[in-house]
Amino acid sequence: MNETLDLDPHGIDARTFRHVVGHLTSGVTVVTTDCEGERFGMTASSVTSLSADPPLMLACLNNSVPTADAVSRSGRYAVNVLGQGHGDLAHTFAMPSPDKFAGVAVTRGSTGSPLISDALAHIECEVAERVVGGTHTIFIGRVVSATAYDGEPLTYFRGGFGRFEFARDDAVYTHARERILDRVHRAGDVVDVDQLAEQLEVDQTAVFYALTRLTGDGLVRRDPERGYVVTAFDASASDATFEARLAIEIGVLEQVIGRVPPEDLAAVRRDFDAMSALLVGERFVDFDAYLDANYAFHERLVGLAHNPVLDATFGTLSIKQVMTRSFGSTPVTSQRFIEAQRGITEGLEGADRERALSAAREYTDLAKERVREILQQTGGQL
Ligand SMILES: Cc1cc2nc3c(=O)[nH]c(=O)nc-3n(C[C@H](O)[C@H](O)[C@H](O)COP(=O)(O)O)c2cc1C
Repeated sequence: MNETLDLDPHGIDARTFRHVVGHLTSGVTVVTTDCEGERFGMTASSVTSLSADPPLMLACLNNSVPTADAVSRSGRYAVNVLGQGHGDLAHTFAMPSPDKFAGVAVTRGSTGSPLISDALAHIECEVAERVVGGTHTIFIGRVVSATAYDGEPLTYFRGGFGRFEFARDDAVYTHARERILDRVHRAGDVVDVDQLAEQLEVDQTAVFYALTRLTGDGLVRRDPERGYVVTAFDASASDATFEARLAIEIGVLEQVIGRVPPEDLAAVRRDFDAMSALLVGERFVDFDAYLDANYAFHERLVGLAHNPVLDATFGTLSIKQVMTRSFGSTPVTSQRFIEAQRGITEGLEGADRERALSAAREYTDLAKERVREILQQTGGQL
């Protein structure tokens, strides 16, 4: 029953291997067993299906941990597939502790292994074979029972927990966003979930997911009676945001000009160059990429003050949403935006206070003016 895999002694070092293999995204499980009346459980991502006929699973467990020894002795284990909200559970079961099950709702499976009640799936196995590989044993389990429930999985990538997103959900969000920016849905319109789902040939869940993200973008709001309503956007909303950003940036420039360390100046220049490459002639190469680069540039300017309160205040301005709502509705823009931001960058580099401040003011005036032009083309509202 026992077989040993030979590992190449001339391979890469363990640290590099861990780093590289951390890029292999996985689900997260808790492998449990009951051995002589005692419950054991450990977080494990090295768990996978091996064969469908016969149904076999495998779990790779470190020989030195108590759960591996308990699985060896009991001859059975259950795989509890964790859901999106189970990050704390995954941490708890990844640390040695006398009673990891305290406060965790569990039932007893048909083989006697503990089953975590609100897991995304339960797979109960009887150990059929063991294979030793380095520090671990691969426990091949014959599947005795398997049940899945509704929910989203917890994922693990490069040492951190996260969530899974269907590419389809992102596509529905992008599509719905374009429809609002292109004014297929106008301010005050209700977005009909069923209709949109039918048009895009997706289920309602994908549409609700998109609408939740669009609410975060400020493009729709949830009306308790009408449903998801496209929000109105006018010049006063964008003026207020652009002026608030200007007030912060002027304050920061006044504080720092002539005293910015070379590494901070280099970072501003890098951000400026990255942003300007995304505006070719009078058009955005890729609006979303420009938006990110523009945000990074202005975030960097504010960051020159090294004041976390200012950083946080800048973050609350919803600049991206305002820009998406206005500039994002047309690919046409102007190099004058880049020139004004070049003025800020060069003003900082040359410790030229007047140049930097007047360029910051000019940039804000241009943005306000441009929103008015766009609004005029669209009848006053977006
Ligand atoms: C996300 C994640 C995945 C893990 N996957 C495994 C695994 O597949 N096999 C393993 O032996 N240990 C794995 N571990 C480490 C064990 O959970 C950890 O050693 C735990 O303390 C073992 O429990 P025990 O000491 O109570 O038996 C993982 C830890 C984390 C955080």
